[in-house]
Amino acid sequence: MLTGKHVALYVSGGIAAYKAAYLVRELIRQGATVRVVETEGAQAFVTPLTFQTLSKHAVYTDRFAQLVPDQVAHVELADWTEIALVAPATADLIAKIANGIADDFASTALLATTAPKFVAPAMNVHMWQNPATQRNIATLHADGIQVIEPVTGFLAEGYSGKGRFPEPEQIVAAVTANLAATDTSLPLHGQSVLVTAGGTRERLDPVRYLTNDSSGKMGYAIATAARDLGAQVTLISAPTALSVPAGVTYVGVDSAAAMRAALLQRYATAKIVVMAAAVADFRPAAVAENKIKKTATDYTLTLTKNADILAELGQLKQQQFLIGFAAETQNLLTYAQKKLAAKQADMIVANDVSQAQAGFNHDTNEVTILQPDQAPQQLALASKAVIAQQILQIALKQL
Ligand SMILES: Cc1cc2nc3c(=O)[nH]c(=O)nc-3n(C[C@H](O)[C@H](O)[C@H](O)COP(=O)(O)O)c2cc1C
Repeated sequence: MLTGKHVALYVSGGIAAYKAAYLVRELIRQGATVRVVETEGAQAFVTPLTFQTLSKHAVYTDRFAQLVPDQVAHVELADWTEIALVAPATADLIAKIANGIADDFASTALLATTAPKFVAPAMNVHMWQNPATQRNIATLHADGIQVIEPVTGFLAEGYSGKGRFPEPEQIVAAVTANLAATDTSLPLHGQSVLVTAGGTRERLDPVRYLTNDSSGKMGYAIATAARDLGAQVTLISAPTALSVPAGVTYVGVDSAAAMRAALLQRYATAKIVVMAAAVADFRPAAVAENKIKKTATDYTLTLTKNADILAELGQLKQQQFLIGFAAETQNLLTYAQKKLAAKQADMIVANDVSQAQAGFNHDTNEVTILQPDQAPQQLALASKAVIAQQILQIALKQL
């Protein structure tokens, strides 16, 4: 998403300025060319030499230092910029942007920039909550500037509150998610994609449940890949340890029944539906109101079959391209072929979860793609992010 993009990073004078050094690294890792502007305050925290070394470009600090005689530096930078990112943004710099003040290099160049602007505030919770700051933030929103909200957590002041600078990866993800959502040339622009992820929890009593080994990583990778193709993604997820990808609508569910209800509510308008969740086939026949006590030596648990969501969606199918997953430990292709036909799916992604490096919990996967009337297609071992992109590319060819 950021490959070859010109990113101007504006660093202002907050304690989070040190994290901007990591942000430069992350932007470059994502393929961007980065130039850095520092306010005077920022230079008190991190020297320009740090940013110059990381970005391989002189840092802009002084609005009257015209290093190239035939160029006005702030205008040259403003015209070069494809993405302007203010991170961390102090309350002071936010106030200047909101009010069109141009009294140093950063505020002047920002006023001259027509590129999309992203502002990531970081400050003390009381500075953040101050009505003046909130008024300025509302002005940024009204002016079409994207505000990457600070997070709640431990602040440099020694107490907790909202105002923390998000991690550099989260900031870059928020920028790329916004760019993907607004890029009309992307193949899934404006299309609704539903993705399920994680292992459902089937409750036994108030403190116990039945679940499985699914980590949710494959579903989350698909949600991210669909977002990067411009889709409006809804991720219906059973509990996982993963962070929700930026720009994705999250619907948290626990049981198979709750996942089914969430899917059916959104199915009619979906273009692509990817069932990457490991949905429990059975649930306890009864949920005990209180914790089951260990009175007997044996305990027999009666299970009831859950609804077959994929088959149900297959029957209701209209314009949707329906993708199911088949995780097996034996006879993979035979079971997966049967599933493809029985569920009326458009694609089954089959993976042998008994293999090292593939399936549950791994960061990599190795899968076989089955489609009606087509030869099976093997996708070699790769990260789940790459496998997710490949699955969606194959689906796109059929759409
Ligand atoms: C140690 C220290 C930490 C600061 N941290 C922040 C901060 O996190 N966020 C903020 O908005 N201001 C913070 N300030 C206040 C700004 O540095 C001050 O408002 C300054 O004028 C900002 O200038 P600039 O916006 O041009 O960088 C801090 C000041 C000091 C001395």
